[in-house]
Amino acid sequence: TSTKNNTVLSYWTYFAKGIEYTLIITVAAVFFGFILGILLSLMRLSNSKVMHSLAVCYIEFVRGTPLMVQVMFVYFGIGALIQSLPALIAGIIATSLNSAAYIAEVIRSGIESIPVGQTEAARSLGMDQKDTYRYVIIPQALKNIWPALGNEFVTLIKESSIVSIIGVGDLMYQTQLVQSSTYKGVLPLFVAMVIYFVMTFSLSKLLNVFERKLNHG
Ligand code: ARG
Repeated sequence: TSTKNNTVLSYWTYFAKGIEYTLIITVAAVFFGFILGILLSLMRLSNSKVMHSLAVCYIEFVRGTPLMVQVMFVYFGIGALIQSLPALIAGIIATSLNSAAYIAEVIRSGIESIPVGQTEAARSLGMDQKDTYRYVIIPQALKNIWPALGNEFVTLIKESSIVSIIGVGDLMYQTQLVQSSTYKGVLPLFVAMVIYFVMTFSLSKLLNVFERKLNHG
């Protein structure tokens, strides 16, 4: 086109794309992180010393190293083995693996908050350990876990911004594109902040509604 509107807001399609990617990465990371987190927490609580140690090592190592390094490590590490690993896939793998460690601890504390009497009662009714977990412990634990899991979701909306360093087109990445296209340094960042805030704030409010329903239901 002959006339080019160069205001920051005229780049709203960039921000829209960024929001889309940020949400995709966040949802995927919480989903895969939850599945792997359940596994890790059960390993950590298991009677097997080997399983327990493996889970502890994983959780402590992942929580003790920066997500930024993990993202780059997955991208360049797996990228060296598999030719042309898409950045988006690498970003999702890294954030999922990271989130799993945090979620594992959330689940573990949820499980540990269930009084021993619950286990004893189930066992004295003849349930084996597996059924006790499945029908007595886990359903009650889920109720305690829910709010913390929601927090993890909110955290990942913000923390996923680090995948922009490997070129995933999330909100932070798009913001940088808008910066270089408009030659404006600050305003795109301000727009990004407002968008991040709207996402995290409305999500927390939404989660609060669910939480209240859960407590009354
Ligand atoms: N900035 C922190 C780090 O680099 C974020 C870790 C991600 N947190 C989370 N709950 N998944 O380690």
